[in-house]
Amino acid sequence: MISQTLKKTGLMAVLASALFGSPTAFSQQELMVDMSKTIAPIQPTMYGIFFEDINFAADGGLYAELIKNRSFEFTIPMMGWSQPNSDRHSYNNESGFAMPVKYFEGQGNLNFIRVQVKNAGGYELHNEGFRGMGIKEGNTYRFTFDAKQMEGAISAVNAFLLDEEGNTIAEVSVPVSGSEWKNYTVEIVPNKTVMKGSLKLTFDGTGELGLDMVSLFPTDTWNGRENGLRKDLVQLLNDLDPGFLRFPGGCIVEGRTLARRYQWKKTVGPVEERPSLVNRWNTEFDHRLTPDYYQSFGLGFFEYFQLSEDMGAEPLPILSCGIACQFNTGELVPIDELEPYVQDALDLIEFANGSTDTPWGKVRADMGHPEPFNMKYIGVGNEQWGPEYIERYKVFNQAISEKYPDIIIVSGSGPFPDGDYFEYGMKELKEIGAEIIDEHYYRSPEWFKENATRYDSYDRNGPKIFAGEYAAQSVAIASPDNKNNWDTALAEAAFMTGLERNAEVVQLTSYAPLMAHAEGWQWTPDMIWFNNLESYGTPNYYVQKLYSTNKGTDLISVTQDGKNLVGQDELYASATLDSKAGEVIVKVVNTSSDAQEVSLNFKGKKLKGKGKVLVLKEENLSQENSFESQKEISPVTEEIKVKDTTAMYEASPYSLNVIRIPIK
Ligand code: AHR
Repeated sequence: MISQTLKKTGLMAVLASALFGSPTAFSQQELMVDMSKTIAPIQPTMYGIFFEDINFAADGGLYAELIKNRSFEFTIPMMGWSQPNSDRHSYNNESGFAMPVKYFEGQGNLNFIRVQVKNAGGYELHNEGFRGMGIKEGNTYRFTFDAKQMEGAISAVNAFLLDEEGNTIAEVSVPVSGSEWKNYTVEIVPNKTVMKGSLKLTFDGTGELGLDMVSLFPTDTWNGRENGLRKDLVQLLNDLDPGFLRFPGGCIVEGRTLARRYQWKKTVGPVEERPSLVNRWNTEFDHRLTPDYYQSFGLGFFEYFQLSEDMGAEPLPILSCGIACQFNTGELVPIDELEPYVQDALDLIEFANGSTDTPWGKVRADMGHPEPFNMKYIGVGNEQWGPEYIERYKVFNQAISEKYPDIIIVSGSGPFPDGDYFEYGMKELKEIGAEIIDEHYYRSPEWFKENATRYDSYDRNGPKIFAGEYAAQSVAIASPDNKNNWDTALAEAAFMTGLERNAEVVQLTSYAPLMAHAEGWQWTPDMIWFNNLESYGTPNYYVQKLYSTNKGTDLISVTQDGKNLVGQDELYASATLDSKAGEVIVKVVNTSSDAQEVSLNFKGKKLKGKGKVLVLKEENLSQENSFESQKEISPVTEEIKVKDTTAMYEASPYSLNVIRIPIK
């Protein structure tokens, strides 16, 4: 502390101290912010989000459906459903029994159930939801189902919402008739809020009823859409003002096997025709088995594009390149059989951007969006490595650039930020002339701090970089004990000064993974945590938010003794101009346990006398946010005064400080 103080006492410090009467107990750091010339534009895509259906992020999370396995398509068709008064090994004369039936010529929706009711007073069919159903008192829920009478005279379906103790908190009776499939819709308003509710169905009359697509949605979804998204979760995403949305993964794109890869064409069109698929994270980790994790694709590619549009984010879809996840089977599609995969990419561009008289443009229009989505980027492969990837990438590259020369193709450098796979991938992709390369790093907080200089030496004329997946791991990659604590968030904040300082090269960045259900997760850490009723941003979320909502428009330099601030005295900094707001923005990250006096000296433009500082700070590096204390670590706003060309600021121990000062 004393040595730091001595080291940094220069003329400016003495002057500033005289002017502002600042304490001398802290070290003083003199930074020069040069507003006289801009280095590079900050791309609107600089800070974005990466969504993958991991940790129940889609079904059970963002996708607001409350019924698990609504159309009986899981491998075990009755998973999620129970019949408490029935016994598989009995005729159930006092109740009844439901059995799955397979359509012979089904395309997507292959199963329904035949509910046989022998005693209407005895038979019950329950759905457990996704670790229960979050139900809110006074809110309206839309209950829908398809039914047909098959035998006898079942005349009504009665739906009950239950609380944790099995008490009814809402009920409705829906008359049914006719031997043809019909869709029934009613609204229902519960009289109690419950975290782990469930659905109970009973039936009037006896006989057999076909039942399918049993669905329960809040009507209060994001933008009030049917088949919509959970409002609180989209709000958290929207608040980030993301520059892009990368979707739908991640390893989920690749599949553990090729057969189980993500196929976008199966996720568009009427929801009831979208075939379900086992989620690849279902049995990935022995320590977090989630055998009931499937993808209904109710949140499919159309919805991802729509969400991007809602948030003003560039859509960035990632497609399989013909290699199953190399951490799993690594199955390869032979090069001469790659055509359908490549066609999927070309058709996706048509789906997103094509006119309504093209086949895929028409599908988009029929789904209610005749205007193009104006997609600019497409990703080929996720975390592939080796010659197998490069060979396949070349085929995609040629086909896409020939037909759609304006589309920017995002390639990948594999799962690691260094080592053989990385070196090889980068070298080959540079030779091909790749436009944007996606890098991933899940490393320790120390690595993040040490790598604030990572991009300083990247070729300014080479491919642009997409830091597509990164997060500091408090324990180790894929450890269930990783925490979203302040230590990890602060290290990311320090690292991000390096991303920003290299905005000439780094043009897209996103934290990963995005979301996790408090009970349904497989992977930690995650930026947003939610349960069936609530959600909160982690400290890592607030770091992302501070960068994203204060990115500015143009990079400028901030230096100390002519050098970038990349960890000297545990300080990191980056700076931008915001030409729209007419402000200069300086980000200072103090990773030291000491407060540090920062003297900001501005050159090139005149400043107004007062600005503000958005501060994230916490002295306990293990501190986390939680459902009980959701904003324990969240930004507070302070004032900063400017005298002529100098502003003094005390950066608290362990703090991220976003300083915004209006320009005259
Ligand atoms: O973010 C979780 C996983 O980490 C992603 O699916 C994958 O791309 C990476 O290995």
